[in-house]
Amino acid sequence: MTFEEWQSLFSESYKAFNETSPAFKELISEVVSFAEARATSLYLVGGSVRDFLTGHEVKDVDIAVEGDAFVFAEDFAAYFGADFKLYEKFRTASVMNRAVSIDFASARAEVYPEPGALPQVAFSDIKTDLKRRDFTVNAIAARLSSSGAELFDPNDGLSDIRAKKIRILHKDSFKDDPTRLFRALRFAERLGYTLSEKTKILFNEAVENNFCSTLSNSRICAELEKIFQEDSLPTLLPKVCKSALLRVLSFSFEAFPPSSFALEEAQQICLKSSKEQSEELLLYFSWGILLGNLPDSEISQLLEMLPLKRTVRKKLEAYFAVRKDLETALEELSEDHRAKLYGLLHKHSEETLLLLVLNSKRPIVRKNTLFFLKYLGTMTPKIKPDELIQIGIPEGVHIRLALEFIAYKKADNPKMSKDEEIILAKNYLESLK
Ligand code: CTP
Repeated sequence: MTFEEWQSLFSESYKAFNETSPAFKELISEVVSFAEARATSLYLVGGSVRDFLTGHEVKDVDIAVEGDAFVFAEDFAAYFGADFKLYEKFRTASVMNRAVSIDFASARAEVYPEPGALPQVAFSDIKTDLKRRDFTVNAIAARLSSSGAELFDPNDGLSDIRAKKIRILHKDSFKDDPTRLFRALRFAERLGYTLSEKTKILFNEAVENNFCSTLSNSRICAELEKIFQEDSLPTLLPKVCKSALLRVLSFSFEAFPPSSFALEEAQQICLKSSKEQSEELLLYFSWGILLGNLPDSEISQLLEMLPLKRTVRKKLEAYFAVRKDLETALEELSEDHRAKLYGLLHKHSEETLLLLVLNSKRPIVRKNTLFFLKYLGTMTPKIKPDELIQIGIPEGVHIRLALEFIAYKKADNPKMSKDEEIILAKNYLESLK
């Protein structure tokens, strides 16, 4: 493909994106006019340019400003009356128009004071900014003007898109920023690309020299959690483990990688749950499946040491605290032992039981737990708490216990009538005397 052909492909996708989002179209055209009036150069950069060129969905739009992005965004927001957020620490900014947001950063050069640390930055021109980026396919820019967006590709990223290659831009890239090792695998899997020969050699050297040891646990977790969100998670996460990148946390990840099948099932469950729930559920399942194959002693160590979201950690602790005992008990039961199954499982949360199903390699454990989740656990007594009070059962904990007792019995006799439930409630009351 010639440069002109790439340019026309890019212009078409960029135009189509503008047409599907009137709020973006309005915002970007105001931003561009404002920049032209101040003789400031603006460039679309990073993932959005790559995604426009490869036909992937564009989620975030990042703009590099030649000059101080912080001041530019603040002045623009005041002029346009847009909402904005300024991030003092990195002197970056977001400007919002209705549901759309555009991120601004200054074109910059980066110096890494030491491997794995966050870089020190200084303003630069766009060419220098592109040179400091991770991969050639992420280092293509498009200069914005009122007549459109013109590609600028000083690192030959277009050739790598054509050749489907992930290529780093300089030999110290992985050393300076070892998160790029995770990113290399993530983008390769997402785009269906492979690492270029030289990048592969440097990748392997980085692994052998354990460059990831310069990363903090929170940066490693952040990279893993980005991986959890990829559609390609079921194939990607086992590859990350086998590539030895997680040696820095434990050598066992290589020996016991997670099951692709379990990760795929986890994604399916999350797809069916509500948007608010699915984000945390995916984190919980992914960590649970990733850690689930490791030796027990390592699991507890990792749970303590990794900076996980508090609610996710709690759910994981609840699951790992009971999974061995539950598996052993479930192996001895069948669907005929309904009351026993109910008695064993009803105290555990749905999340604990789902992870038990996802992680268990024993068909009987999966079968029994699914039988409970789909059937036994959904059977609620017909009798209501106020009716139990009328019978004489004391308010408070006994109401819950009586309902559990009835549900337990109902597990063996699903067609139980309300009258039979009342008899059971009276039996329960007797047992209290
Ligand atoms: N970048 C980099 N090195 C990193 C992280 C980011 O050079 N360690 C650069 C890349 O040019 C990247 C851009 O910053 O394209 C934006 O980073 P990010 O939002 O993490 O990645 P995207 O490419 O936008 O990918 P995604 O689609 O996953 O959001």
